[in-house]
Amino acid sequence: MDRPGRVDEYYMKMALALARRGIGLVEPNPAVGCVIVKAGQVIGRGWHRGFGKAHAEVEALRDCRRQGLDPAGATMYVTLEPCCHFGKTGPCTKEIIQARIAKVVVATGDPSGHANGAGLEILRQAGIEVQVGVCQAQARLLNGPFFKFVQTGRPWVIVKWAQSIDGMLAIADPSAGRYLTSQAARNHAHILRRRTQAIVVGINTVLQDDPLLTPRPSKGRRPIRVVMDRGLRIPLDARILLDVKTFPVLICTTRPAMDDRQAIVQQLQQRGAEFLVGPDDDRNIGSLLDELARRSIQQVLIEGGARLIRSALQAGLADEIHLYIAPISLGNAGKARIEPGYLMLRNPTGRQVGPDVWLSGLTDQGYNLCVDIPKDCP
Ligand SMILES: NC(=O)c1ccc[n+]([C@@H]2O[C@H](COP(=O)([O-])OP(=O)(O)OC[C@H]3O[C@@H](n4cnc5c(N)ncnc54)[C@H](OP(=O)(O)O)[C@@H]3O)[C@@H](O)[C@H]2O)c1
Repeated sequence: MDRPGRVDEYYMKMALALARRGIGLVEPNPAVGCVIVKAGQVIGRGWHRGFGKAHAEVEALRDCRRQGLDPAGATMYVTLEPCCHFGKTGPCTKEIIQARIAKVVVATGDPSGHANGAGLEILRQAGIEVQVGVCQAQARLLNGPFFKFVQTGRPWVIVKWAQSIDGMLAIADPSAGRYLTSQAARNHAHILRRRTQAIVVGINTVLQDDPLLTPRPSKGRRPIRVVMDRGLRIPLDARILLDVKTFPVLICTTRPAMDDRQAIVQQLQQRGAEFLVGPDDDRNIGSLLDELARRSIQQVLIEGGARLIRSALQAGLADEIHLYIAPISLGNAGKARIEPGYLMLRNPTGRQVGPDVWLSGLTDQGYNLCVDIPKDCP
């Protein structure tokens, strides 16, 4: 830990670990962490704790003051370029300058229109030394959805499923049990629902599993629930339609189905469900993503079943994959085989959750979006 580069990496990794705590709470904001170091001691730590709440830099400065420590002359490590605009909170650059921080080390620039190097420039103009690019790839991997949306205007697509060892997504005989994986694994998967602003399933999943598709606990998150239903087969008593006012529902269907089932359409509309009319083939997922992009939705979770996941993977739409593997091979007792085709997870991670194994990683597309840093990135 004697070379300056290694010292910077050490503290930036600490800031990245803090940033991770905000995942599932801050979206569609990026998760950001911050560490303030003075005379070789960490004197302040902070992270963005929730959408609309104070930014990581402000939290870290408050942490210093809470301990009666003065951040003047210190080095601040922050995982994303400090903001310089008034959003839900004031500009962080102003707070940093007022605190008389001597040096700011930033993992990666913020390519958003209102930032894009402007925050870094304000700090430099104020006489603060600024260094950018420490752990840059890790910082971008942490906030892939944010960077994808800013750079492409498209939502980040997460595909998640639970499977048996032999790739079955469901138990054939419903009386033999509804779930493949443990309660612990299912609780773990709710983090994904809290992260995302839209959760998508195929109509067979609604017909067979009757899911609510809400994050539990929701912690104030209200993702839109989307059903891919070209033939408008959704039953009026589906549980997904119970609380449409709180958790909106969008049904992706086709013009012929809307025309054939006008009475049902009317009843669904009265309940508050919305419709998206799209193509009568698998290009409907692309139309859905266009619509979600128009609504500024940054992260989309595709939850199944097997056919919908297959379509999304075949169309190369997935950026991030999560799978939960139950320690059982079902053979003839299983149904809905996953068949993901060729898929190599990049930057993989995972662990045991209850008796099940959670494995996640990025597709080539998601990974490249994070690590191929555009030349004009500040
Ligand atoms: N283990 C898990 O993680 C998990 C998660 C969810 C579900 N499941 C299980 O999966 C089973 C259902 O899976 P499934 O494969 O039969 O059906 P599914 O994927 O839930 O639904 C497929 C149906 O969705 C509609 N759809 C609309 N657009 C589509 C598109 N672009 N690509 C594919 N389908 C599209 C099609 O019906 P239309 O043509 O009528 O629109 C299609 O038949 C259930 O047994 C459920 O328990 C397991």
